[in-house]
Amino acid sequence: MDLSLVGPGRAGLALALASRAAGHRIAGVLARDPVSAAAAGERLDAPVLAWDAPLPSCDLVLVAVRDDSIATVARRLAGHVAAAGGVVHLSGLTPVDALAGLGCPIGSFHPLQTLPTPESGAERLVGAWIAVTTDDGMLADVLFALASSLGAHPFELADEQKPLYHAAAAAAANFPLASLAMAERLFTAAGIDFAVAGPLVSAVVANAVTMGPRAALTGPVARGDVGTVRAQVAAVAAADPEMLVHFVAMIRATAAIAGTSDAIEAALS
Ligand SMILES: NC(=O)c1ccc[n+]([C@@H]2O[C@H](COP(=O)([O-])OP(=O)(O)OC[C@H]3O[C@@H](n4cnc5c(N)ncnc54)[C@H](OP(=O)(O)O)[C@@H]3O)[C@@H](O)[C@H]2O)c1
Repeated sequence: MDLSLVGPGRAGLALALASRAAGHRIAGVLARDPVSAAAAGERLDAPVLAWDAPLPSCDLVLVAVRDDSIATVARRLAGHVAAAGGVVHLSGLTPVDALAGLGCPIGSFHPLQTLPTPESGAERLVGAWIAVTTDDGMLADVLFALASSLGAHPFELADEQKPLYHAAAAAAANFPLASLAMAERLFTAAGIDFAVAGPLVSAVVANAVTMGPRAALTGPVARGDVGTVRAQVAAVAAADPEMLVHFVAMIRATAAIAGTSDAIEAALS
């Protein structure tokens, strides 16, 4: 496929690098900063494109700007994408109609993966899942084929489900880190290196994916082991009172999943 990239940031470059590695061609790069545009053009062996001028003929335009710039950039692209087979943005939250008015098939293509740098992002797209949202059957085929060619797994996501899907993705990607940051702080307070938790954390995540989070849950809250929970809460209160409110909130969230809320509330009171 021939792809044009608008917004060569982390996600856009990751997708463009992965696409090149899969044998696709980058037909051009459009960026607001001429220095970034030139650097991306060199990196992707692609011509730098001009704003407010027709984009070259291509199968797909990737609008990889941050979520709150998608509609603005789409307005600027209007009238200039007639030679594109379709235009997609990469947001898992923003509705597809942020691209309305472009006069070609529109959609979104959201990698359910963290892409912190272009290189690591390109590697992590292999095996990742990619949410495809579009009402256009031909564009859907193109997006499914693109995802598969990258070694990723495409799936359909309805536009109206995007906010809830995005909340779920945030729960999966961000909340574990809040919990691990809490663990790191408590391990450190106990004089123990957080690195000792590595194998435990890896096993928990692997179990959650294979068995489901509820079945994978072990520990005193899952058992309703009230005395142990009380001792943990007292230890956190003594060592790190600031963390107590968050520790207790996580106990409550865990008990709700385990179905032990009544016993655990008794321990907390
Ligand atoms: N990174 C991830 O982990 C990830 C994962 C999945 C999906 N996404 C999605 O990918 C999209 C881009 O995210 P990102 O993380 O790649 O962001 P990013 O690294 O900040 O890159 C955003 C790019 O958009 C450009 N841009 C922003 N506003 C613009 C405007 N008004 N006009 C022209 N260009 C503009 C930026 O240019 P400047 O450098 O000039 O600011 C930059 O090239 C978002 O929709 C995000 O939800 C990201």
